[in-house]
Amino acid sequence: MDKIKELTKGKAKSLFSTADNEKLVMHFSDDTSAFDGKKKEALLGKGAVNNQFNAFIMDHLAENGVETHHIEVLNSNDSLVWSLKMFPIECVIRNRASGSICRRLGTEDGLILENPLFEFFLKDDDLGDPLINDEHIISFGWATKEQIDEMKKLTYKVNSILTELFIKSNLILVDFKVEFGVCSQGKILLADEFTPDGCRLWDSETLKKMDKDRFRQGLGDVVESYHQVADRLGMNIIVD
Ligand SMILES: Nc1ncnc2c1ncn2[C@@H]1O[C@H](COP(=O)(O)OP(=O)(O)OP(=O)(O)O)[C@@H](O)[C@H]1O
Ligand SMILES: [Mg+2]
Repeated sequence: MDKIKELTKGKAKSLFSTADNEKLVMHFSDDTSAFDGKKKEALLGKGAVNNQFNAFIMDHLAENGVETHHIEVLNSNDSLVWSLKMFPIECVIRNRASGSICRRLGTEDGLILENPLFEFFLKDDDLGDPLINDEHIISFGWATKEQIDEMKKLTYKVNSILTELFIKSNLILVDFKVEFGVCSQGKILLADEFTPDGCRLWDSETLKKMDKDRFRQGLGDVVESYHQVADRLGMNIIVD
């Protein structure tokens, strides 16, 4: 399916229209950003590894009963997805405390939480993606109570499926962010991406960071680490 027109260009991906108005091409670029776009760099080969990593994870989730927007990989950096009406919110689950929650609550990095912690954030870079709760979402009309419940249920399910998948490869899924949208039939589907750009993955023995924190913290070998994670999971990433 050919790309017709670039509809949106985000910090890491672009969406293109296709001849079928229910389908979009999602292009994964090498652009990498952190701190709500304040730190930016192009990392050679990151788009290709993320596109194929995302496809592997989306396929695994679909096999385990989570419906997603992913249709198929088209080439190294592009995938075909269902065009959805996105909720302007991010769903986060934390299994350990790391990143913003440590600054917010004064917690030590890596603290194992008693229970996976679910959080909603508003997608708004200018506001620094603020933490919000169910009441904000309902009052501002960003989603209904039923949609909130469904997004929470699906995010917890993603957490169980992927925690199990990663631990088999000696990786701890510390936390992750996902987004959802509604398809033309009114169903809520997992959308956007699941890649090391939007989650924290630590080696389960050494606790080495293998995700975008390597970029945030200037640790180096960002794309190399993404490839190492892909290799451990048995993915066959094609680089052209
Ligand atoms: N299936 C889909 N249909 C429509 N839009 C989608 C779909 N999947 C993801 N999106 C949207 O496409 C954009 C992807 O681009 P990218 O992630 O690079 O944006 P961004 O700069 O991070 O901005 P944002 O903060 O909105 O994610 C996001 O806005 C995301 O919500
Ligand atoms: Mg994004």
